[in-house]
Amino acid sequence: MTKILLTGGCGFIGSNLGPLLIDQGFEVTILDNFSKGDISYLPKHDQFEIIEADIGDEEAVYNAAKGKDAVIHLAALGSVVESVVNPNDNFISNAEGTFKVLNAARRAGIKRCVFASTGGAIMGNTPPPVNETSLPKPISPYGASKLAGEGYCSAFSHAYDMNITALRFANVIGPISAHKKGAITVFIRALMNNKPITIFGDGKATRDFLFVKDLCKGIVSALIKNKPGFNVYHLASGEEVSVKQLAKTLCEVAEKPDHEIRFESKRKGEVERNFADYKKAKEELGFLPSFTLDEALKITWNWFLEHEGPES
Ligand SMILES: NC(=O)c1ccc[n+]([C@@H]2O[C@H](COP(=O)([O-])OP(=O)(O)OC[C@H]3O[C@@H](n4cnc5c(N)ncnc54)[C@H](O)[C@@H]3O)[C@@H](O)[C@H]2O)c1
Repeated sequence: MTKILLTGGCGFIGSNLGPLLIDQGFEVTILDNFSKGDISYLPKHDQFEIIEADIGDEEAVYNAAKGKDAVIHLAALGSVVESVVNPNDNFISNAEGTFKVLNAARRAGIKRCVFASTGGAIMGNTPPPVNETSLPKPISPYGASKLAGEGYCSAFSHAYDMNITALRFANVIGPISAHKKGAITVFIRALMNNKPITIFGDGKATRDFLFVKDLCKGIVSALIKNKPGFNVYHLASGEEVSVKQLAKTLCEVAEKPDHEIRFESKRKGEVERNFADYKKAKEELGFLPSFTLDEALKITWNWFLEHEGPES
């Protein structure tokens, strides 16, 4: 049985990915410091070995990595806005943390790694649609930390003969995201509690939204394909959606089409337009998103209604 070390496995994406890995017959050890995630988020959590540790503790990562066949590295501080406020913490978790995970994997003799990178933040305001040949120009410390991570993935792959795949995720939507602070969670809470939706900027900024189930299938495919050397792929929907359009679609999903939307000034670090072409991932990994934005938002909305409900 293939043994996986999954860092950050108790967060949003990890809690969706972990059970899929178990269903596909992998044996999964999770390493998480619970700074953002929680064991209670993780379905079937008794089927995992779970280690509480920080990726900054390289010995802990090394001990967890020993005897494993592959590492999927998700653990990171994922907020653009928080990274602008506190670039130091972001650097330590994401840039230095990724170095430590790769170094621990190298020392443990692991030859297969998958790294969670980002599509939007790494590209900055590079004109979309971006693909793997576009020049990354991050405009936030978060974007820079992921680019640094990709740099170490490339270097470790070449220097130590490791197969490392960096996956640039689009903006991910889905269940088990109540702890997230991105637009979707904030908009859903506003709708559930009959408060106005606040958009930072004029609402014309665009994003590429991908359903978490589609993303997780792409991650598993990258793991199984185990492409030789260092490879980068965009995992995206390929569709450009404005933040205002997102808010309007969510209002319709919530059956509140006239819900109030307010606008406040734009925040630093957030890119203007972003969407990615996933052709390379389709051709080489068989990645093909199947959920529409409408379907993804409906599933996510229903999950929030079931798990959270309005404030009392
Ligand atoms: N959610 C998205 O839309 C999105 C988009 C692009 C990239 N990503 C990347 O995907 C990965 C997972 O994101 P997510 O949305 O699940 O975030 P999340 O915050 O829900 O999950 C991250 C998990 O990592 C853990 N963690 C954070 N720092 C750690 C550390 N130093 N040591 C050990 N554990 C630590 C947290 O406790 C949490 O369980 C991240 O690398 C993120 O940058 C996410």
